[in-house]
Amino acid sequence: MSEGIELRQVAEEDREEIAELIYLSLNTWYQSHAMPPIFAGASSQADVFYQVYSQMEGSTAVVAADHSAGRLAGICFYHTRPTHMSLGIMTVHPDYFGQGVARCLLKWITDIADEVSQPVRLVSSALNLDSFSLYTRAGFVPRRTFQDIQLEVPSQGLPVGRPSPAVRPADAVDVEAMEALESELSGISRASDFHYFLQNAAGFWHTSVCTRPDGTLGGFLTSSGLMLGPGVAVDEATAEALLLAELDRRRGTSVVFQIPVECGDLVQQAYGWGGRNCELHVAQVRGDSPPMRGVTLPTFMPETG
Ligand SMILES: CC(C)(COP(=O)(O)OP(=O)(O)OC[C@H]1O[C@@H](n2cnc3c(N)ncnc32)[C@H](O)[C@@H]1OP(=O)(O)O)[C@@H](O)C(=O)NCCC(=O)NCCS
Repeated sequence: MSEGIELRQVAEEDREEIAELIYLSLNTWYQSHAMPPIFAGASSQADVFYQVYSQMEGSTAVVAADHSAGRLAGICFYHTRPTHMSLGIMTVHPDYFGQGVARCLLKWITDIADEVSQPVRLVSSALNLDSFSLYTRAGFVPRRTFQDIQLEVPSQGLPVGRPSPAVRPADAVDVEAMEALESELSGISRASDFHYFLQNAAGFWHTSVCTRPDGTLGGFLTSSGLMLGPGVAVDEATAEALLLAELDRRRGTSVVFQIPVECGDLVQQAYGWGGRNCELHVAQVRGDSPPMRGVTLPTFMPETG
């Protein structure tokens, strides 16, 4: 990374430039690799990352500021949680691609994790080899692969029969069981994220839970405007019931959700609903991580490992 570039903690006055940077970085990268742009509208669309992360406990970002050019060269959000650190969206300005900016931003975060001996987790695109390689070079190991399924939910809802009676909207009293279930299946703990979803200050979150016949929690799934997730479920049938409940809330919109490639029945169900693969992602972990069990339904915002 060139000498005039300094790493520092994000500040409120960076907000507008961060949205422009995320927008330009992602759209340029995807378009230069013969893929459609991620953001179709104005750059302000990308402000949602700052909006959400500034409201979530334990979330912040590191920026690379190029003082000579008077602009930001890169930004990476990250989150401290009881069991691990997780890495949110990482973007570098196209003028600085390939100059080691992302490597330095990543080192800032892994250094903090190393100080507290915590693993770092993230979900990275399998189609974006620059990003995949950035992380695996820094010691991350891919653990689970996901299909990103894009689905237009018909305005009259999917023709799939009655919703499962085991699924209902989540309540604050469910947080403890949600945290315990994710800890059991994925080895992570992050109750404050769940409180944030349920408080719904941003106005676009909704969470469903699914109970088992014995009354214990079998899974949960949160969704925002464009994506379903994060969530976990003990098995594919529970994940399917949760996905259907959250899809039903998004009638008349286009949504994306990620499901583990090894969940063959769930993948076939998603195709049956009209879903199309639009990308592949991998959960990567640097440091210790128990094997992920059950069905993980991650997102990029907020990211889940
Ligand atoms: C992905 C992205 C963040 C990388 O940023 P960058 O500053 O260009 O990356 P760096 O210059 O720090 O390079 C990262 C490392 O990956 C390595 N790398 C890249 N492609 C590689 C490949 N095919 N095989 C092995 N290593 C590779 C580089 O050599 C470098 O490692 P080194 O410094 O040890 O040599 C940048 O391309 C970007 O912003 N893309 C658009 C947004 C995006 O896709 N973000 C990630 C998903 S959220």
